[in-house]
Amino acid sequence: MNLDEIQQMEQEWNETTPKLENAYGFQPFRMHDFRVMLMIAASNTKGRKFLDAGCGIGSKVWVAQNEFGLDAYGIDIVDEYLSQAHSIGVRAGFADIRDYQAFGEYDIIYYYGPFREYGEQAAFETRLHAEMKPGALLMTVLAAVKPYSWEQVFRRPWQGIWRKPDNGGQRVPRRRAPLQ
Ligand SMILES: C[S@@+](CC[C@H](N)C(=O)[O-])C[C@H]1O[C@@H](n2cnc3c(N)ncnc32)[C@H](O)[C@@H]1O
Repeated sequence: MNLDEIQQMEQEWNETTPKLENAYGFQPFRMHDFRVMLMIAASNTKGRKFLDAGCGIGSKVWVAQNEFGLDAYGIDIVDEYLSQAHSIGVRAGFADIRDYQAFGEYDIIYYYGPFREYGEQAAFETRLHAEMKPGALLMTVLAAVKPYSWEQVFRRPWQGIWRKPDNGGQRVPRRRAPLQ
């Protein structure tokens, strides 16, 4: 397969399955923007383990694996999407991102959407931030909860890449300079 075929496949699968309750089906993020963001993320970490949380048919995982040489995985809750992901040689498994237990294993974590309801999206993001390992990168589009205390390595109005600090994201109080 090549990138054109992957993008063609994204168009064909765009929202083809029944709607999920409070969540978006497979509505792919713009491939061009994804590749730019991943280029920046991959060049800002030595870690190679990538996760698309809510990967759909695995098109972004395919790109991470085949264009960027990352150790790439995806998770989703729609079996049809996962079968398609496996058919293009992508490693993807059935897991619900609301209770996924292995966020701490990855160096770059990406998601797009996936929840329609603000509260669910915010709850997912808050848990994700807490469970990511220090030093890992978060690559987000339309984040509900931005981790402002983290170092931001890329910023556009709605898109960003943040690095979780080694202290886990605790705000460090600034020391005042002693009065002379
Ligand atoms: C908007 S699509 C994004 C697809 C892909 N990540 C991309 O960027 O092109 C959101 C995906 O999240 C999945 N999803 C929704 N709720 C989920 C949940 N609770 N756990 C795992 N995946 C979920 C949907 O099935 C869908 O494939």
